[in-house]
Amino acid sequence: MSDKATLTFGDSSFELNVLIGTENEKALDVSQLRKNSGVITYDDGYGNTGSCESSVTFIDGDKGILRYRGYDIAELAEKANFLEVCLLLLNGELPTSAQLSNFQEKVSAFQNLPSEVLKAVESLPANIHPMASLATGLQALGGACSHLCTNDRQKDLENFDDAAALIIAALPALAAASHRKKVGESFKNPDKSHNYCTNFLSMMFAKEGDKPINSSLSKALDLIFLLHADHEQNCSTSTCRMIASGGANPFASLAGAVSALWGPLHGGANMAVINMLNDIHSSGDDGSGFIQSAKEGKSRLMGFGHRVYRNYDPRAKILKSACDQALEALGVSSPILDIARRLEEVALQDPYFIDRKLYPNVDFYSGIILQALGFPTNTFTVLFAIGRAPGWLAHWKEIAQTGKRIHRPRQIYQGSTLRYYEPLANR
Ligand code: ACO
Repeated sequence: MSDKATLTFGDSSFELNVLIGTENEKALDVSQLRKNSGVITYDDGYGNTGSCESSVTFIDGDKGILRYRGYDIAELAEKANFLEVCLLLLNGELPTSAQLSNFQEKVSAFQNLPSEVLKAVESLPANIHPMASLATGLQALGGACSHLCTNDRQKDLENFDDAAALIIAALPALAAASHRKKVGESFKNPDKSHNYCTNFLSMMFAKEGDKPINSSLSKALDLIFLLHADHEQNCSTSTCRMIASGGANPFASLAGAVSALWGPLHGGANMAVINMLNDIHSSGDDGSGFIQSAKEGKSRLMGFGHRVYRNYDPRAKILKSACDQALEALGVSSPILDIARRLEEVALQDPYFIDRKLYPNVDFYSGIILQALGFPTNTFTVLFAIGRAPGWLAHWKEIAQTGKRIHRPRQIYQGSTLRYYEPLANR
């Protein structure tokens, strides 16, 4: 196959390089097109645009494949844990046992929030959304650890390992501080003898005299974090890379990513799924009425559909069986899980969903597990952010290391042509 393509526009032809990825994906390189021809490419919403070359994550949406650094998500879900996957994403290789215990120790040491950061989070308005609190907490953390947060790319890269461990350690503590404040309880200090997820569950919910946390619950949470750890150039990761491309430090880049994740079409979908399932349940519908209204465009089946997957999201498959296991470990039955199963069954046989290749995505079952673990619905997206942090950080590092130009898309202007200022008195 030729490594060149030819574009004909008007009377001229332009040669474009063809970029071929390691999984044989092909892209026409249009980076010189404007310079050579005066035209740009147009791709509203970037659905057909490769914004970078990356070695972090591979997705084949048609086949339902997701791999971190070459490892299949199903194999990692079965054999690895979240902190191990953090190092895989951050460094490109699975850690040795010495590297992993070193990292665990570092994360454990960083779990105590600096007192001014805790104060900052606790002083936010009572009704602030946990995602806003998380973004604010991250910026405050950067301020409190200013040696890790310089906006000098070289220094930020030299300190990256510490900054990454600090952020991964602090996010659960920030989430717990915000939650405890909301429910009127005082902050619970981390317990260094617990693993990452047990510690988080304990910081969120433990009260004096509670029984130790069941290990199958912290395993379920670890799996959710692992499955969310990266997903290549999605909205929040692209936001993180965009901010990083301007030279901003990891704390600021991740605070922006947290804000991008918040929306209901992105990370906020896990909350929206639970709200949808609860509404269906309380209306007495078994799901059929809701499917009909989604087909008529009156509502959207949240947790279904994906810009990239035109097949079953491999993470949803894993979470569907994890959901059964978690509910069994907790000894609870969930009427909304029955509704979710029914929605999936009906949708997967319906021509509307089949023709549009709409399948369950990662959010369809994750919320049911999180609800069963006791997380309030408005914290679900925060949990997504904790899971996604290593991915964002790996992308920050990739941008910082490859050091290409600031990201700056162009546009096709469709506004008024030149007009002249009318004095206020004449308008
Ligand atoms: N329910 C009903 N119809 C849908 C859904 C849905 N969940 N998703 C897409 N469609 C329909 C659209 O109405 C459109 O129909 P049309 O061709 O008749 O106009 C067609 O399918 C294509 O949809 P788009 O909106 O063009 O798909 P896009 O790739 O832009 O959007 C998205 C993807 C945002 C995920 C969409 O499927 C959606 O809104 N899903 C529900 C929200 C959700 O679960 N988001 C989480 C995504 S995963 C993540 O961020 C972690």
